[in-house]
Amino acid sequence: MEKLTFDTRNVSAFIGDKCLPRFQDEIFNCHRALLERNGKGNDFLGWIDLPVSIDEALLKRIEEDASRIRRIAEVFVVIGIGGSYLGSRAVIEALNDPFSALKNRKPHIIFAGENLSEDYHAALLGLLDQKDYALAVISKSGTTTEPAVAFRLIKNHLEKKYGKEGAVSRIIAVTDASKGALKKMAASEGYTSYVIPDDIGGRYSILTPVGLLPIAVAGFDIRALLEGAALMREEALFSGDCNLNSCALYAAIRNILYRNGKWIEVLVSYEPTMLYFIEWWKQLFGESEGKEGKGIFPAGLTFTADLHSMGQYMQDGMRTLFETVISVENSGSMLTTPSDPENADGLNFLAGKRLSEINRMAELGTMLAHVDGGIPNLKINIPSINEFTLGQLIYFFEFSCALSGYALGVNPFDQPGVEAYKKNMFALLGKPGFEKETEELKGRLG
Ligand code: PA5
Repeated sequence: MEKLTFDTRNVSAFIGDKCLPRFQDEIFNCHRALLERNGKGNDFLGWIDLPVSIDEALLKRIEEDASRIRRIAEVFVVIGIGGSYLGSRAVIEALNDPFSALKNRKPHIIFAGENLSEDYHAALLGLLDQKDYALAVISKSGTTTEPAVAFRLIKNHLEKKYGKEGAVSRIIAVTDASKGALKKMAASEGYTSYVIPDDIGGRYSILTPVGLLPIAVAGFDIRALLEGAALMREEALFSGDCNLNSCALYAAIRNILYRNGKWIEVLVSYEPTMLYFIEWWKQLFGESEGKEGKGIFPAGLTFTADLHSMGQYMQDGMRTLFETVISVENSGSMLTTPSDPENADGLNFLAGKRLSEINRMAELGTMLAHVDGGIPNLKINIPSINEFTLGQLIYFFEFSCALSGYALGVNPFDQPGVEAYKKNMFALLGKPGFEKETEELKGRLG
């Protein structure tokens, strides 16, 4: 069985032998609070049992809708922001052929509503003029501005293209069971709808229809994803002992490093298709931990590309970093470096070697150099990239993040800080109800 493993050998030199045993009691308490559901944000713990409790009828429905969309659409537009799109994008991009868009793989998944760029959305509408498409609009609150604006634009386009009735059959709404503008629209227009459970927040929602529907439309196996998550859940729930639970160990080490001045964690992959997985991880940890003036800053890099940009900083810059590498043991293809009788490029020492081996040596060499340069290095090994191992990674990070947030003393399930920009944006745009803020901002901006 392809199982995730966690390697902490290259942190002990930085934290010593005594730190972890001393921290163990704290992690036990955090683990207990999570399982007994009496810690901060305990009304948002629905994700804990999701991999084993998700309804068979719901899975079937998702698969059926996905097959229908795959029959009628060349392009599937996923409209959402934050936790309402990053999870599906992470998995789809990790599993997809990076050139699928140019190889006519059907349907191609496109994301919208995660930015307010006029150029981006104008270009998208231009593309949609020429393609058969369907869309999912995903918003738990059903009121988030970015996806609401994108939905209004694209719905308008869809209705012009297919007529009102035709458009209805191409729209799927994923939102709250009872609240929000999107819920009301879905009910009045008769859109196919899915519910985001009340007790699951956006960044923990990847294994609900929020993530599962787009992943299934892209043609991937959502059951294997859930099975992987269920396997990691067994380990995560079994015990709070860092020797038995890699989530507990990761959470403990992160907090020990943080208390020792390592304020930035850099998640690294040597597979470019993992770029959005890193983005998903950044949101999960950034939004969960960055509050009350505290929190590890989650950063991400893709090597070896970024070794030629950020590599210098990693090796020699401020020593406030630690590094976590997602290491993939086996590639899904076989490509060897050709031999060249001229050897003009001097590369014959690599002739016959697989690219995956060269990549692995780059990874090993970098890890050794970074440890020598003063960067504690954690390694998460997965045998290969597939639905089952990504499911394990997802649950590993979700559970670790909850434990780590508790160890930090914050509520890992809220995001009060996100409201500040919204208030200003609404005031600047003259939204009814924000008149007082508009006046204040006018005074401030002169
Ligand atoms: O994790 C979160 O809760 C957020 O990142 C949300 O997912 C994001 O703000 C989008 O919210 P909504 O789904 O309500 O549109």
